[in-house]
Amino acid sequence: MQKLYVAMVGLPARGKSTLAKRIRDGLVTEGIAAKLFNNGDMRRALIGAESTDPNFYDPNNKLGREAREMICMRNMEIAREWLAKDGEVAILDATNVSRARRHLIETTLTDYPVLFVECVNEDQLLLNACIRRKTTLPEYASYTEEEALASFMKRISYYETIYEPLQDEKYWLRVDSTANRILDERPCESSPYYPAIREMVVSVWIQCLYLARHGQTEFNLRGRIGGDPPLTATGRAQALALAAHLRDKPIEWVFTSTRIRSHETATPLLTERPEAHAMAFKEFDEIWAGDCEGMLYSEIRERMPEVTQGRNACKYTYTYPNGESYALLRERVQRGLRRALFLAGDAPLIIVGHQAINRVLLSLFLRQRNEDVPFIYIPQNQYYHISLTPRRKVFERVPYDGGRGASLLAE
Ligand code: F6P
Repeated sequence: MQKLYVAMVGLPARGKSTLAKRIRDGLVTEGIAAKLFNNGDMRRALIGAESTDPNFYDPNNKLGREAREMICMRNMEIAREWLAKDGEVAILDATNVSRARRHLIETTLTDYPVLFVECVNEDQLLLNACIRRKTTLPEYASYTEEEALASFMKRISYYETIYEPLQDEKYWLRVDSTANRILDERPCESSPYYPAIREMVVSVWIQCLYLARHGQTEFNLRGRIGGDPPLTATGRAQALALAAHLRDKPIEWVFTSTRIRSHETATPLLTERPEAHAMAFKEFDEIWAGDCEGMLYSEIRERMPEVTQGRNACKYTYTYPNGESYALLRERVQRGLRRALFLAGDAPLIIVGHQAINRVLLSLFLRQRNEDVPFIYIPQNQYYHISLTPRRKVFERVPYDGGRGASLLAE
């Protein structure tokens, strides 16, 4: 039977472990025996605190180098034993950034083909966020945040000195892990698992996404668009009701736009989850109405009838004077979603967006006809719950207020 080794490649904080887990989960869902062999886990178990010191990763530190090589060899042995029995795809999760290391893997594991999967992440914002997140791991418990950051950055810089991208290896895939995109490949066509792995690498996985709209604002009440208004009392009650409704959900990431109404809606959610990560993305700011920002729909009808006519003719492609259209929103919303999903990994997340933004976000999942996108229903007292993995497909709109908002505000 043809079996396969998959060996991850990439500098720290590039999304290797998330991708390795997805490959494992995707294969297991298809009934294939796949298992992870993680060098970091073995290092922490065998060596512990000493291996948190960045000097452990200095390529000129003989002891550190030998210890890491020993761990790599040991994991290869265990993986080989497992494949020799019932295993089908063994996934070696480690940095494997040097050609020498990969040569060692290819010349040690000769019983089955080795497919290298390299994760690349050029998005500085995501990289910084990932590095910050790493510094909150138990490994850095005895460090201050700044010490942890400096230590991890130093570890990365040691890896950078020996990093060589994939090229000479026999089979490989290079992936932009922030965009689920294959950048280059040398396919392992003989492997029956190759097409499935390729598919897993490019598909969008969402374990659990909540998509809510901000609560009511004075602008909403009056039919005024855009701007940066705060929530009304009803809006604040909706925010409390949303937090109460989601109280038991293990949301780890809260994404908002940079607008006050989005922040205010997310605040009760965050108060209940001091551990959650919060990030504000400009990508989730409401459609920019340009010259019409802050105007009432009725004023636009009267003073700029060509805008209303243009929107009536085709709301999806109509671009506000000096502003945006739904069609234009797509790209930035997609970038925001990609960033949010990358950062959250497999952890549950919520995006507190806006009417047009949420329509476009939903359209990315719904495969809606473009002309229908600006009419998707985005109420302020319901949220969407989305889960899309090979094992689970959920798409539901859930009411969270049901009149409870007002009483929560009074509490
Ligand atoms: O009315 C609230 C709002 O979020 C405005 O800020 C925005 O311009 C509008 O919704 C988008 O919806 P529509 O495209 O239907 O006007």
